Amino acid sequence: MRQTVPSITEMKKKKQKITMLTAYDFSFAPILDAAGIDIILVGDSMANVVLGMESTTEISLDEMVMHSRAVVRGTERAMVVGDMPYCSCQVDPELALPAARRFTEEAGCQAVKIEWFENTIAVTGRIVQSGIPVMGHIGFTPQTADKLGGIVQGKDIETARRLVEQAKAFEEAGCFSIVLECVPWQIAEVITGILGIPTIGIGAGAGCDGQVLVLNDMLGLFKRFKPKFVKIFADIYGASLDGIRSYIDEVKNGTFPSEEERFSMKADEFEKFRNSL
Ligand code: KIV
Repeated sequence: MRQTVPSITEMKKKKQKITMLTAYDFSFAPILDAAGIDIILVGDSMANVVLGMESTTEISLDEMVMHSRAVVRGTERAMVVGDMPYCSCQVDPELALPAARRFTEEAGCQAVKIEWFENTIAVTGRIVQSGIPVMGHIGFTPQTADKLGGIVQGKDIETARRLVEQAKAFEEAGCFSIVLECVPWQIAEVITGILGIPTIGIGAGAGCDGQVLVLNDMLGLFKRFKPKFVKIFADIYGASLDGIRSYIDEVKNGTFPSEEERFSMKADEFEKFRNSL
């Protein structure tokens, strides 16, 4: 049985921490599912960590939907949330509802996530009213990073109050949860206490109702930079490097493939073949 909006909401009420990670494909999604993750976000961070783009604003809706579909195929238990890319809502808000429908109907996601921008609340309201659950995202919002003037958001009274207003506005618009990215832990705690819906923090301290990290960061796969809030839980980069180096060595010295990894033709059949040449 998949996690649902009611089951995630219930976790906040029972003070059970919500776990969320990103995933982008059929290789990792089943591992997250088997480990018991509650929510998988097919984040537009895929632009950076999978596709090597400089900005998340470069990724297309087609790319996001294709990868979301692969994640849904690889999961049975986790709720899968598709991240609405910049082009699907900020360029023309009229495109947002059809885009959200592609995530649920074509990819099979259970919800979508929307970053804060000037028309967020109108867009969120429309999507929620159509029956699609929405997760909000405030604080550091990479799609509008150029307008934010820094990474950590809400460090003074005015900007902290703005975050509280944004969080409340998302809740009033019908969001079932909200991501708080790069927010002082004290402000994240206040917002978590005010809202009835769960907060999921990334760089927002331990007081949120749940936590999210980018999978490729926490597995040590993304080497371009390491944000302060990232903890590396496994060195998959190192393990992959060792494995690939062993493969290269064994191919070069002739120990791979061995008899174990080859196919044979019956000796008499091979003899006949040889004679036929
Ligand atoms: O795209 C993403 O991975 C995200 C998370 C950092 C919350 O939005």
